[in-house]
Amino acid sequence: MSNRAIYPGTFDPITNGHIDIVARAARIFDHVIVAVAASTSKNTAFSTDERVQFARDTLAEYKNVEVQRFEGLLANFVRQWGANAVLRGLRAVSDFEYEFQLAGMNKHLVPEAETIFMPTRENYSYISSSLIREIASLGGDVSEFVHPIVRDALAERFASRNPKK
Ligand code: COA
Repeated sequence: MSNRAIYPGTFDPITNGHIDIVARAARIFDHVIVAVAASTSKNTAFSTDERVQFARDTLAEYKNVEVQRFEGLLANFVRQWGANAVLRGLRAVSDFEYEFQLAGMNKHLVPEAETIFMPTRENYSYISSSLIREIASLGGDVSEFVHPIVRDALAERFASRNPKK
């Protein structure tokens, strides 16, 4: 049996923290599917197609990784793709309560899959997509935290707010 993990998230946009989790997971699992949530309660800065494209472009070097969009319940997507694991990154203790709840509910909805938690690398533990967006929107440098493709897309998205001096 091959081990197939789903790594779900909003990825608005994908950061180096996410990429680091995928890179490490790609060494453990036979196949990793990055699942980009189309319907989310979050008011996203980038469309689903853009979020999927950024993930595809920045993860292209990992041959056992693919990126797909998903709508609705994660549990249905996990079943549809025949995955046996849901991968989640943990940044801090504060992430744990919500993650524990999510894992419990997903276990109930799709008992054949296990949630696997992976600690985020130390130097990415304090970043989040919304923080990256905020810094970029205020003209700050995010190149340490995102792939150049994403950095450029953020700069373009917020260009009107940060006119060149
Ligand atoms: N490095 C950097 N940042 C990270 C990170 C990492 N390794 N891991 C998470 N983050 C950040 C994300 O960028 C995100 O930042 P933001 O809140 O500023 O956007 C934040 O941490 C939370 O990310 P995450 O935990 O991945 O949540 P999410 O909102 O991106 O994804 C879903 C949540 C989509 C997986 C979840 O809502 C879901 O499954 N939805 C489908 C509907 C469903 O099935 N609901 C029932 C669930 S039981």
